[in-house]
Amino acid sequence: MDFADQIAIVTGAARGVGKEIARRFVQSGAFTILIDIDLKETEQVAQQLNEGGPHAQAFRSDVSKIHEVEKVFNQVIDQYGRIDILVNNAAVFAESVLIMDIEDQEWDRVLNTNLKGVFNCSKAVIRQMIKQKSGRIINLTSFVGKTGRVVYSKVGTPTKAHYCASKAGIISLTRSLAYELAPHNINVNAVAPGSIATEATDKEKRGMITPLVPLGRMGGVDDVAAAVLFLASPDASFITGETININGGTLMD
Ligand SMILES: NC(=O)c1ccc[n+]([C@@H]2O[C@H](COP(=O)([O-])OP(=O)(O)OC[C@H]3O[C@@H](n4cnc5c(N)ncnc54)[C@H](O)[C@@H]3O)[C@@H](O)[C@H]2O)c1
Repeated sequence: MDFADQIAIVTGAARGVGKEIARRFVQSGAFTILIDIDLKETEQVAQQLNEGGPHAQAFRSDVSKIHEVEKVFNQVIDQYGRIDILVNNAAVFAESVLIMDIEDQEWDRVLNTNLKGVFNCSKAVIRQMIKQKSGRIINLTSFVGKTGRVVYSKVGTPTKAHYCASKAGIISLTRSLAYELAPHNINVNAVAPGSIATEATDKEKRGMITPLVPLGRMGGVDDVAAAVLFLASPDASFITGETININGGTLMD
């Protein structure tokens, strides 16, 4: 895939899936803006990506805070003149507690980062993409946004309802964005990964999840990044409002 001369933004790019998506964009020629709340780690990733030339720039922003998001996105627009691709990847995971025990603050933390974060970052690029008459927005949801429970939860045990609800909201927001922005040649899609192994995944989690996946393995960050790059590419120009499962068959719908 060739993204030469394109400007891509990836949120939550300090580690895990976002880091791999950023690496792939750079490898495919895009100048890539890495946004994360963890600036130190993001700068290290950018430094690695900049070996051999300027390919990436790191910014700190909390996606749940609209004023922080607008400040960084406006700076990117001033500096680079355009934003071709936005990948809304930043998210937090949730505490495993029963719904009746979820604290108000914990509900807000998860919803504000995961769902409001997608709203904030999308809002911050829409006017620029409309001006350009083109753009791609790709949102990271999850298969739990469809099932309402994590894959290993048993009846009556915690489902991580707040995380699930945030990811379900992203599926709906993806469709609303796609519908509103279609006349402006802006495609909006989502990917719904199943359990993906990152540097944070230990042996115990891998052992628990692997037997639940029909294809017999956890997904890798490369599996998710490949689908994101496809959705950002010209090959996906007639796809919008779609959520692609990347889950090895864990959920087929
Ligand atoms: N790993 C999985 O099994 C899995 C499965 C389904 C969906 N997903 C989704 O994929 C995406 C990436 O997951 P991951 O496993 O790489 O997560 P991760 O925790 O490894 O990385 C998330 C990144 O987001 C950043 N972040 C958190 N809050 C932020 C905020 N308020 N503002 C800016 N940045 C913030 C973190 O600092 C971190 O670098 C998430 O949207 C997640 O919900 C992951």
